[in-house]
Amino acid sequence: MKRTMNCGEIRKADEGKEICLAGWVSRRRDHGGLIFVDMRDRSGIVQVVFDEAAMGKDAFDKAESLRNEFVIGVRGNVRARSDETINPKMPTGEIEIVVTELRVLNRAKTPPFYIQDGVDVDEMVRLRYRYLDLRRPEMQQNIMLRHRVTKIMRDYLDEHGFLEIETPMLCRSTPEGARDFLVPSRLNPGQFYALPQSPQIFKQLLMVSGMEKYFQIVRCFRDEDLRADRQPEFTQLDIETSFLDQDDILTLMEGLVKNIFEKSIGVEVKIPFERMSWQEAMDRFGTDKPDRRFGMELMDISEYVKGSEFKVFNSVLESGGQIKVINVEGYANIPRRELDGLVEYVKIYGAKGLAWIQYTNEGVKSPFKKFYSDETFEKIREATGAHIGDLLLVVGDKPSVVAQALGELRLEMGRRRGLIDPDKLCFLWVVDFPMFEYVEEDKRYKAMHHPFTAPREEDVEFLLTDPEKVKANAYDIVLNGVEVGGGSLRIYQRDLQSKVFEAIGLTAEEARSKFGFLMDAFEYGTPPHGGIAFGLDRLVMLMAKRKSIRDVIAFPKTQSAIDPMSHAPSEVEEKQLRELSIKTAVHKK
Ligand code: AMO
Ligand code: AMP
Repeated sequence: MKRTMNCGEIRKADEGKEICLAGWVSRRRDHGGLIFVDMRDRSGIVQVVFDEAAMGKDAFDKAESLRNEFVIGVRGNVRARSDETINPKMPTGEIEIVVTELRVLNRAKTPPFYIQDGVDVDEMVRLRYRYLDLRRPEMQQNIMLRHRVTKIMRDYLDEHGFLEIETPMLCRSTPEGARDFLVPSRLNPGQFYALPQSPQIFKQLLMVSGMEKYFQIVRCFRDEDLRADRQPEFTQLDIETSFLDQDDILTLMEGLVKNIFEKSIGVEVKIPFERMSWQEAMDRFGTDKPDRRFGMELMDISEYVKGSEFKVFNSVLESGGQIKVINVEGYANIPRRELDGLVEYVKIYGAKGLAWIQYTNEGVKSPFKKFYSDETFEKIREATGAHIGDLLLVVGDKPSVVAQALGELRLEMGRRRGLIDPDKLCFLWVVDFPMFEYVEEDKRYKAMHHPFTAPREEDVEFLLTDPEKVKANAYDIVLNGVEVGGGSLRIYQRDLQSKVFEAIGLTAEEARSKFGFLMDAFEYGTPPHGGIAFGLDRLVMLMAKRKSIRDVIAFPKTQSAIDPMSHAPSEVEEKQLRELSIKTAVHKK
């Protein structure tokens, strides 16, 4: 009984055909003398009918023994359903299969949860039984989408002259970036490999090698604190090119993204994407990854509120801070309890407080009303474009705190007020990133992107004298408020690379010992080059409209970086540790 069709693909046009199917029992309904089974395979679900009168008692008894998740093969005939039994919600809802022969290929225990979409099951249980979770149609869709996306990526890049080249998984540990995952070397006791955080150095070396256009769909490893869009191992579409400038690269990538969306989910993407400098993104949205699906931009009201008797704003402004607002339109009548909650909300992001201005028909309501004239409130209203009925939420602090607190508050209010259209796709390039950021606890500058990123030519002279002024040729691609990719033009001259290492406080010896091989390579005719890496998991998550990248990874880890199914990580045998010359400081329980 060899399978001749897939369950989800049978249509009205197949009426009258004799077919064989193989798959799982998704649901069984017993109507006494008639049994309906929803039969499932990867392609979808179809209704199969067992009719005692037609198939005889023995065969029918076998059908009665069927339970959910049994694996079966059936032979039968495609029959059109009568008008009143058509199910418009199912692609196969116009037909059913009248079974003439049934084979039970395997029985199944009762699964720990229903194998169906939208089940409300604790994620730990889903991950513990991931092989069953992945049997659910929505998860299968996600995995199939991921396959289509990588296939389209490979096709597009191949058509544009790229070579797929693998790079090592056992690498040298390097100091910049996140924490490394280490792998002990048995043959070199006391020494460790690091798993790659990205193939950054190797892809640059491939440009030195003259490969010109490289890509790789590659696993990367970062020992970071995890979130919904972060996994300890995740996948990048990693790309590097020679002789292209920033515009060439961005244009090529826009074409790639357009192809991916149109060919895999049939959604049209308009190119070119909007481009915005990092500074503008921070000023208008308080973040370097603005969600452009809605407005509610941050606005500065410092000039209207300065020089008053209001101590809170005065001290902020005197210490170089700023007072900014967002306008929550039509929400002047926000309940007091919600306002109090918002005060707590912004505190999570480091703000010391939150104030507001409610423009109501009865006049202005604000905790700082007594410090300002009606004219001032009117000026603020005009400057912010607010109307009667609107609510301004106000935060004063140093710029970084205002940006974070108001930026997060904007997203929260956007969600609460239903302003974010889940069907909208807003792509954005954020460009002109600062080259460095100051790390308070280390008292030094660190590369904002990575230390191989090229500074803008006109800023090179400030590298050592005024590092904060230096902008990088770096770019991030943002989709609906999520950073889905990032890249840069690279430094390709040895001298400039040394200078950047110096600017981030690496001594010549340290730079030599960590990156000597790269700096040596740069002396043998390195082409100008640049590239980008997309977070594949994040991209597919957004395409599949999921909230967590775990839903688009077949076997992900939990927030605490464990696999509840295979129980990784685990302790290992003493013997294994001895072979690796390793002793742990943790005592076994
Ligand atoms: P970057 O560190 O920005 O750049 O990484 C590129 C993209 O990878 C995704 N990403 C992650 N996804 C899931 N879990 C994580 N822990 C995680 N970390 C990053 C993001 C991010 O935009 N070598 C450079 C690229 C380059 O310069 O060409 C790099 O790795 O979507
Ligand atoms: P306080 O003097 O701390 O009681 O603050 C008086 C009022 O000022 C509070 O009710 C808040 O509305 C407002 N406020 C305090 N700190 C800030 C801040 N950092 N930003 C905006 N408003 C603030």
